[in-house]
Parts: sequence; structure tokens; C-alpha cells
Amino acid sequence: MFKPVMLAALLAGVAHCRFMEPSSDPYALPEGMLIGAGVSALQTEGAWNLSGKAESAADYVLHLGKLSSLGFGDPHDHDVAADSYHRYKEDIAMAVKLKLTLYRFSISWSRVLPDSDPSNPNMEGVQYYHDLIDEILRNNLTPMATLHHFDHPRILEDQFKGFQGEEMVAKFKEYARFAFNQYAGKVKLWVTVNEPNMYCIYFPNLYNISGLYTDNDMQRYDCVRHTILAHAEAYHVFHEDNHEGRVGFTALLTPARPNSTRSEDVYTAAAYNELQAGLALNPVVHGDWPQDVKDLAGSKVPEFSEAEKQRIKGTADFLGFNVYYTLTVAYKTPDNATDGGSIRGGMHC
Ligand SMILES: *[C@@H]1O[C@H](CO)[C@@H](O)[C@H](O)[C@H]1NC(C)=O
Ligand SMILES: *[C@@H]1O[C@H](CO)[C@@H](O)[C@H](O)[C@H]1NC(C)=O
Ligand SMILES: *[C@@H]1O[C@H](CO)[C@@H](O)[C@H](O)[C@H]1NC(C)=O
Ligand SMILES: *[C@@H]1O[C@H](CO)[C@@H](O)[C@H](O)[C@H]1NC(C)=O
Repeated sequence: MFKPVMLAALLAGVAHCRFMEPSSDPYALPEGMLIGAGVSALQTEGAWNLSGKAESAADYVLHLGKLSSLGFGDPHDHDVAADSYHRYKEDIAMAVKLKLTLYRFSISWSRVLPDSDPSNPNMEGVQYYHDLIDEILRNNLTPMATLHHFDHPRILEDQFKGFQGEEMVAKFKEYARFAFNQYAGKVKLWVTVNEPNMYCIYFPNLYNISGLYTDNDMQRYDCVRHTILAHAEAYHVFHEDNHEGRVGFTALLTPARPNSTRSEDVYTAAAYNELQAGLALNPVVHGDWPQDVKDLAGSKVPEFSEAEKQRIKGTADFLGFNVYYTLTVAYKTPDNATDGGSIRGGMHC
């Protein structure tokens, strides 16, 4: 549940350090460097149906109870989770004890806007995040808020198949504006969508296994495309509304290195990294999919229009990398391959 964040900040800190006088304390951290841990509403809050929160898309699919083959043995595990909704003060006290300086959390869209209508917020849910943020600040930790960590209101899944539907771009923009207006006075570090490259690959499987999606309902590149457009809209809203702070984007990275110096292995590792992380990161930095993705996925990957490219390019004040492990990869001659380079159950290079 706790996972490392701010690795980019860590690396920047180390690079900076090299040019400074050696400190008497070899373990001293550069001034201003933040070290924190992260929680997410779905995985830690619990209180899935309390105080006006609506069922989220994730609640719904977990509750169907058909995911035991993926390790979700108890469909009600997350209903209480770590009970952070009630015990957040203890969580923050533990963070202080660990001498952390940053506390990352996610806002549950389903808790603050249960029917996704910003004119009809759930004030108890809205107040919960004010209380949480106030407690974080009272303990001299820096809050970092994520807007979407897999848990949009179920109604948006029913209507649009979540981020597979283009309508989600406008819905997310409204939600982001609402959240920024509420909390940006206190929170200066924002992540829009957490790990869209994981979410758009993995979640359709959960829906498929649960009998909710057919093959046609699993448009993963469309999903990634819409999360990127949604992210960009949120980024522009934040700065157009003159909030102070930084808005970033986080991707899941399982960095691949080649099994050998064979050029096939080297290419495979590069292609994997582009299909996995570049897919999410390249568009928000450079305004388009990585070239390798276009070459490998061909017409499966929907193009960005020129106007969209301009809109998404350079829309990250920082990039977040969620890194849990690395991979060693080798080239494999495709057996009867018909679609080398597509994304199916996982990444196929
Ligand atoms: C909330 O969900 C739990 C199961 O997690 C159930 O036992 C309880 O009755 C529900 N409460 C409300 C108010 O619906
Ligand atoms: C969806 O589930 C069906 C039935 O389990 C399976 O045959 C199919 O390959 C799955 N589709 C995708 C795109 O994974
Ligand atoms: C990885 O490299 C090792 C050592 O060169 C080799 O024995 C092995 O077959 C390679 N693995 C694959 C999957 O190609
Ligand atoms: C590839 O196709 C051949 C001929 O159709 C078939 O005999 C073989 O089993 C296939 N291999 C795999 C891995 O599907």
C-alpha cells in the first residue's frame, strides 16, 4: 500500500549533491529534497459506501467476486482496506515517525462528486479531504494529491466505459477544476492520472474476466489517448485559473534492459520501454506517441490531431515514475505472429 514516490526528485537531488562540498554527515540530504510515501483512496481509505460516497468503477468490478484468479480472493477486502477514512491521523503520525517529508494521497472522485456533477458535490466527502490535508500540513509534511487512481464513479463506466470514452475528457476536466478550487490553496503538488499505462492495460482485463467487457470493449490505446487528453485539460485549467503549484503526470515503469548485447535484444528492450512507459510519457512531453509505438502498433494507435498535439505537448511540470521492479528481456522470434507490437493482456514486443 505504501509505495515510493518522487524518485525523480531523488535523482535530481543526487545529481545536485555532487557539486557541493562534502558534508560532515555523509547521509545528509540536500536541502528541500522531499522523501515520502503514497497511499491511494481505493487501496487504503475503505468506507466505500459511507458518508455519501458513490460506488466506483473499481468497487463494482471487485464486488462481482470473479477475480480470485488474479489474487483478489476476498471481493470485500477493499471495503474497509486500511480504514484510513477513519484512521488517517494514525497514518500521518506513522509518516512523521518515519521522518517522511511528503505524503501522497489520492482523492476519490466517487467520494467528492458521486454522480460526477460538480454542481452537486458530496460535502461530507469534500470535508474529509480538507481534514486530511489540514492534518498533513499540521504535521509539517508536504501534501501531494492525485486526482485519479483507478476509481472514477461507476456511472461513468456504465455510460462511457470509463476512459475508453472520449466524454471522459470533459468529465475529468470538470472534476479537476472542482478539486483545484477546493484544495489548491493548500496543496501545491498535483498528479492528474496515476499510471494510465497500467490502468488502461490492466483494468479492461478485470472487466473482461468479470463478463462486463467483450473484446470490442477493450480499446486500450483509446483509453490511454483519453487519459492524456484529460490530463492536459486539467493541466491547463490549473494554470489558467492561476493556482500556485505544479501539476505532473505519473506512469508505471518496469524498466527493461537487454538480456545481451545482441542488437535484437537491445531493440526489444527499447521497444518494450517505449510501448510501456513512452506510451504515456512521450505525448505529454513531446506531443505525440513515441515513433516505435507508431511503427509497431500501426493503425491500432489512434492519431492525435495537430490541435491535440499542441494541446498536450509540454503539459507536465514534473514527471512521476512509479517503479516497483525492472525486467531483463530477450528477443523472441514470433511464432505465427500476426500483430507484433500490439498491446493485449500485457505488453508484447
Ligand atoms: C456498506 O457496505 C458493507 C459491506 O462492505 C455493508 O455491510 C453495509 O451494510 C453497507 N452500508 C451501507 C450504509 O450501505
Ligand atoms: C476476454 O475474455 C474472453 C473470455 O475469457 C477471452 O477469450 C478473450 O481473449 C478476452 N479478451 C481480451 C481482449 O483479452
Ligand atoms: C539470456 O542470455 C543468456 C546468456 O547469454 C542466455 O543463455 C539465455 O538463453 C538468454 N535468454 C534468452 C531468453 O534469450
Ligand atoms: C504455427 O503454425 C503452424 C502451422 O499452422 C502450427 O503447426 C504451429 O503449431 C503454430 N505454432 C504456434 C506456437 O502456434
